[in-house]
Amino acid sequence: MPAAGSGTSTAEWYRHFGTVDAPGSSPCYADWSVHIAGDPELIARIDEWPYNKRQPLLMLAAARFLGAGMSPYAEFRRFLDEHWDEVSRIVLSRATQTNEVGRCATLLPSLAVIAATEGRPLALIEVGASAGLALFPDRYSYEFDDGATVTRVGPHGSGERPEPPVLHCRTSGPVPLPDSLPEVVWRAGIDLNPLDVRNPDDVAWLEALIWPEQEFRRERLRRAIAVAREDPPLLVAGDLNAQLPSLAAQAPADAALVVLHSAVMGYLSADGRAQFRATMQGLARDRGCHWLSNEGETVIFQEDGSSVVPEMDAGRLRGNFLLQHDGRRVAITGPHGQRLDWL
Ligand SMILES: C[S@@+](CC[C@H](N)C(=O)[O-])C[C@H]1O[C@@H](n2cnc3c(N)ncnc32)[C@H](O)[C@@H]1O
Repeated sequence: MPAAGSGTSTAEWYRHFGTVDAPGSSPCYADWSVHIAGDPELIARIDEWPYNKRQPLLMLAAARFLGAGMSPYAEFRRFLDEHWDEVSRIVLSRATQTNEVGRCATLLPSLAVIAATEGRPLALIEVGASAGLALFPDRYSYEFDDGATVTRVGPHGSGERPEPPVLHCRTSGPVPLPDSLPEVVWRAGIDLNPLDVRNPDDVAWLEALIWPEQEFRRERLRRAIAVAREDPPLLVAGDLNAQLPSLAAQAPADAALVVLHSAVMGYLSADGRAQFRATMQGLARDRGCHWLSNEGETVIFQEDGSSVVPEMDAGRLRGNFLLQHDGRRVAITGPHGQRLDWL
């Protein structure tokens, strides 16, 4: 892995994405990213964008949004040359807002433990919620597979309409799998730019953010969007640090409040993350609020060289996320919710 921070050149970032993040999920993105890393003329163009806009996934999704199909690199490169102004416009006007509903599978066991321990239903706040799809963990179906047994958990009754996505998750270790879904009585999210599940342009962007070969992710995204459209969540536009205290004050007092986030802390500065930690400590003290953090260190390499997760065995975390409950490490998770390795 390249040294994070100011030492991480754009070429290293693309090479890391192409050799660590993408290969298991998208041979196409792996191939394109490794070629881009070795294409100084293109790297120089990408370097004209602000630091956070150089993120490989954002550039690749912009090209896909504009119609780039899976192809050998030479063809993709021609597409970029022909559409560069539009790619730049999308990169500069959009952000990486992948709303990965699969991550609910890695959060569900912790949410169920919280509801059972508290003996109360849940009130959820997601910071960095994108379209808010992770706010419906009680409406989806799950299949947890430890290699020997498949445990299914889902909404009561059959014939749910709309049909919920089925989230498959490979597990290891003593995962506290629930028998049933926890009850959620209130849900709300904060995002700099909330995406609207009823807006076709936002939905097209959410689909473009999914890696080319992963049709199963597009399918579960569509199902989750259909679920969310039935009952769109309250999404507040703004910075999570500015909005969280007043939103938390609106949560029903008789529910167990949980603040959760996935793939968000990388977008904050070290100061922003410190402020968020302080707010969470205050909410834990004053409100008994729980905190579920599901973050990976290389979603965005930190420009200042800091890391979004506590130091741990690099081999274990490589390309994965760390799930923490109230600051305690509980699991290593697949970045799209495909694995849950309980610690
Ligand atoms: C990679 S997406 C992840 C979305 C969602 N958490 C998920 O896991 O599916 C990161 C989201 O965080 C939001 N975000 C980044 N910085 C933020 C901030 N300071 N305040 C609120 N939202 C922020 C972005 O707009 C984006 O929607």
